[in-house]
Amino acid sequence: MISKLVFATNNKHKLKEVIAILKDQVELLSLNDINCHIDIPETSQTLEGNAEQKADFIFQNYGLNCFADDTGLEVEALNGAPGVYSARYAGKDHDSEANMQKLLKSMEDKKNRKAKFRTIISLIINGKHYLFEGEIKGTIIKKKCGEGGFGYDPIFIPDGYDKTFAELGNDIKNNISHRALAIHKLCDFLLSQ
Ligand code: IMP
Repeated sequence: MISKLVFATNNKHKLKEVIAILKDQVELLSLNDINCHIDIPETSQTLEGNAEQKADFIFQNYGLNCFADDTGLEVEALNGAPGVYSARYAGKDHDSEANMQKLLKSMEDKKNRKAKFRTIISLIINGKHYLFEGEIKGTIIKKKCGEGGFGYDPIFIPDGYDKTFAELGNDIKNNISHRALAIHKLCDFLLSQ
């Protein structure tokens, strides 16, 4: 079993979610922990490509076992947009509020509100590459609801619930989310090693 892994992110929300899911099974190091203060390029047109690019960067430059994730919100009525461009939907600033407002505007006249979050995790162990995927289907609501979570959470209601991710709280989100599903697959894989 691998005991130490770099998670190629400095997103505090993601780190908290993943630490809560992995518990003490694996010691996680963030980019800060390994003194990596570079904004790692994400220039691919797919989630898989971006996740691999980030993990590769760490393995090539630091020689450490690591994983990286990339997540997109795929909206049916927008032909899968914002998808891989979710972080930059409203511009380069990665401004979640602006991204949500742009999405709500694009959806104003749409009856079909179906969407899904999809996460891809790229793992590199001793130079070998592995991919894990998690997705959750749901609905885009018309107005923001809830204060928790991050990103598009206040406008996404997962199927089977009547509250947004931002209202449901971390315990529920960490059980059912796209990232939780992908992390559980990663964890099962690590345990099988
Ligand atoms: P990335 O994976 O950090 O590149 O995220 C892409 C975009 O999706 C960013 O705008 C994030 O804020 C958003 N995002 C990623 N994960 C989640 C989530 O769990 N809930 C809501 N938005 C998310």
